[in-house]
Amino acid sequence: MLNNETGPGADMAKAERLVSLAVEAKENAYVPYSGFHVGAALYADNGKVYTGCNVENASFGATICAERTAVVKAISDGAKKILAMAISSDSNSPTMPCGICRQVISEFCSPDMPLYLSNSRGEYKAYSFEDLLPHSFKQSDMEDI
Ligand code: THU
Repeated sequence: MLNNETGPGADMAKAERLVSLAVEAKENAYVPYSGFHVGAALYADNGKVYTGCNVENASFGATICAERTAVVKAISDGAKKILAMAISSDSNSPTMPCGICRQVISEFCSPDMPLYLSNSRGEYKAYSFEDLLPHSFKQSDMEDI
C-alpha cells in the first residue's frame, strides 16, 4: 500500500492541497477596482499553511497582491522559509506572479522551491522558483563591494 505522506504521491497530494487552498483563498479577494480575484497558499518551514488574497485600494498603488499577503502572514507568524507555494486567479490560464511578488518571495525561498500556478478551475502547472526569477537580486549581491 502506498503511504500518502511519504510515497510517490506525496508531492502531488501536497500540490493539489495547496492549489485548492489558493482557489479557496481568492474568495476573500477585495477587488472593487479590477474585479480580478487572486488567491495564494504557501507551505512554510514551521509546518503551517498560510493563505492570502489581493486587497485593493482606491489609491491603486497601495494594492497588495495575494502572494505578498500570504508571505507577510507567514513571516509575521514566525515562519522563516517558504517551501512551496500555489497561486490561483479568475484566469483560464496559469496565474503568473507579478515582478514585485517574485522579488518578495525570493527573499524567503530557495531556487528550487516548487510553485504551482493554477487557473480558476484548479488546473495547474508546476515551476521551480528559479524558472520565474533567474539571477534574482539578493542580500549577497550587496556584499560584493
Ligand atoms: N495581482 C495579484 O494579486 N497578484 C499578482 O501576482 C498579479 C496581480 C492582483 C493585483 C490587483 O488586485 C489585480 O490582481 C489586478 O492587477
